[in-house]
Amino acid sequence: MSDTSSQNRSQPARRAPVAVLGAGTMGHGIAQVSAQAGRPVMLHDPSAEALENGIRRIRANLEKGVALGKVDPDERDGALERIRPADTLQEAVAGAGVVIEAAPERMELKRTLFRQVEEAAPEDALLATNTSSLSIGDIAQGLDHPERFLGLHFFNPVHIMALVEVVHGPRTGEEARERGVAFARELGKEPIVVRDSPGFASSRLGVALGLEAIRMVEEDVASPRDIDQAMELGYRHPMGPLRLTDLIGLDVRLGIAEYLHETLGDGRFRPPELLKKMVAEGKLGRKSGEGFYHWDD
Ligand SMILES: NC(=O)c1ccc[n+]([C@@H]2O[C@H](COP(=O)([O-])OP(=O)(O)OC[C@H]3O[C@@H](n4cnc5c(N)ncnc54)[C@H](O)[C@@H]3O)[C@@H](O)[C@H]2O)c1
Repeated sequence: MSDTSSQNRSQPARRAPVAVLGAGTMGHGIAQVSAQAGRPVMLHDPSAEALENGIRRIRANLEKGVALGKVDPDERDGALERIRPADTLQEAVAGAGVVIEAAPERMELKRTLFRQVEEAAPEDALLATNTSSLSIGDIAQGLDHPERFLGLHFFNPVHIMALVEVVHGPRTGEEARERGVAFARELGKEPIVVRDSPGFASSRLGVALGLEAIRMVEEDVASPRDIDQAMELGYRHPMGPLRLTDLIGLDVRLGIAEYLHETLGDGRFRPPELLKKMVAEGKLGRKSGEGFYHWDD
């Protein structure tokens, strides 16, 4: 039989503030969904402009949600009230139950940042990075308590995408893993648990499919549109791998393929010549107006 009284007693601890470090593309979204889930949020960015922009984007997302009938006006107001800008990292993490870092994808920056977090955050805070490609074990080097550190890999746009990869490094503790899963669910997300390995689960699979589709264009197996339809209509993918590559950016995909080829050390992720050629020609997908498709917007 479950003990509801002890569940109630543990409630305040679970509603402890969330500190989000970095208010850019990912950070503002993570702050938003945390506040919508009822958590007080401290949002920090060393750039005052980025911090302001992040809060503006949260307001715009919530307004749009209200206009579409997906967000209740009270929920919008409550979420906005719960988010507080923090001028310093120390102020942001001082009372945090969960710290999520969404700073630029640079190893040294993240290592330095988490050493500062470890000094300033409560001892029982869960520490998470939103890295999309760096090794969790490597970021944790130099931490006194790596057992409470893990990856929480959200997807862009955070307030829309359901998936969170809960990535455990070699020294991540079982408790941190469970807390990561519970926290993702609390935010209304669907967590999957992944061991720290290159590309985690999502990039590794997504890139493998995308590269094979490019090789099929190279070999003239079918047109990009027909290859995409094979997956959209035959496998119910919401979007085919080539259209997705155009949206993500061919240069971004090439970078990840090179990284996976290096780290996983086999031919599966060797970048196709066609991909390299298109990137060299500036055909980067939607952002440059041309990739496997022509884009007018
Ligand atoms: N953009 C995506 O689609 C995506 C998806 C999943 C994961 N990620 C990962 O999320 C992280 C953030 O990416 P992003 O796209 O939001 O980047 P971004 O450039 O949009 O935002 C990064 C923010 O971090 C701030 N920042 C710089 N130094 C900082 C510091 N010391 N402390 C706190 N903030 C600092 C910057 O001012 C900037 O506002 C990266 O690790 C990235 O790999 C990105």
